Amino acid sequence: MKLFRSIKELQQTLAADRIAGLTIGFVPTMGALHLGHLSLVERAGRENDRVVVSIFVNPTQFNDPHDLRIYPRTLDADMALLSGCRCDYVFAPSVEEIYPEPDTRKFDFGSLGSVMEGHFRPGHFNGVAQVVSRLFDLVKPGKAYFGLKDFQQYSIIKNMCLILKLPIGIVACDIVREADGLAMSSRNALLTPEHRAVAPQIYSTLQLALKEAGHFAPDVVKRHVADRINSLGLLKIEYFEIVDELTLKTVSSWKRKGTKVGCIAVFAGKVRLIDNIIFAK
Ligand code: PAJ
Repeated sequence: MKLFRSIKELQQTLAADRIAGLTIGFVPTMGALHLGHLSLVERAGRENDRVVVSIFVNPTQFNDPHDLRIYPRTLDADMALLSGCRCDYVFAPSVEEIYPEPDTRKFDFGSLGSVMEGHFRPGHFNGVAQVVSRLFDLVKPGKAYFGLKDFQQYSIIKNMCLILKLPIGIVACDIVREADGLAMSSRNALLTPEHRAVAPQIYSTLQLALKEAGHFAPDVVKRHVADRINSLGLLKIEYFEIVDELTLKTVSSWKRKGTKVGCIAVFAGKVRLIDNIIFAK
């Protein structure tokens, strides 16, 4: 496994691989790696000849400077974890390497980008698209791997590839959870012991919503979820939306065609956690 800090060296190595006819799989991350990230890396390893993992805490996608400051940075531990996987290249550039000039590009994802995370974290997806499009351009992968934990991000990236006409296969990977159901996240490390103890209730509440689906209207299920989360005392709901998997528009009836996804954002103290559940057709 080789660590690259510079774009030039990474590109030289990848160009040689491409000439040799090797396929390249790419897993973009912000580091503080856990088994959720590693599941993407393993899948990329099964489906490609070479695997590139980027580790870059992208400033342009943080709408809260405090959140950016406290975001965990653990490169040595990340390298140790990746060395146990089928990862060939780690790309961990500086901010200057990625943004020698400020990136002023504006993406328009329509309603995909303005609901849920887009509404509560203005500018977030524009920053995600800036960095992912830049990384895609540097790595030029055949396939790139994204976790369904960030369901809306996955939709945005697919849309971005359509807009920019990028010939990259976007592969969706299942959510990896702790034994108690909490979706793995780099932010879990920031939870106090009290908040960590109550955080699995996010997933158990989503499962409750799954049981209620079809018996109660989506609006009623939404209210039940919000009430249950808020009644726990230590958690505060930001949103719970039941949306169409493709358009991300709120659904008002279970009878509507298509798969529905319940997406939730919750504050556990100062730490913001997201999760989701897919309602079977
Ligand atoms: P980060 O939060 O580090 O996540 C990197 C990738 O890992 C994302 O595709 C995310 O969905 C996936 N992931 C995180 N937790 C997961 C879990 N519990 N199960 C499955 N997959 C999981 O998402 C980002 O970074 C950034 O926005 C990025 C795309 C790298 C752009 O900066």
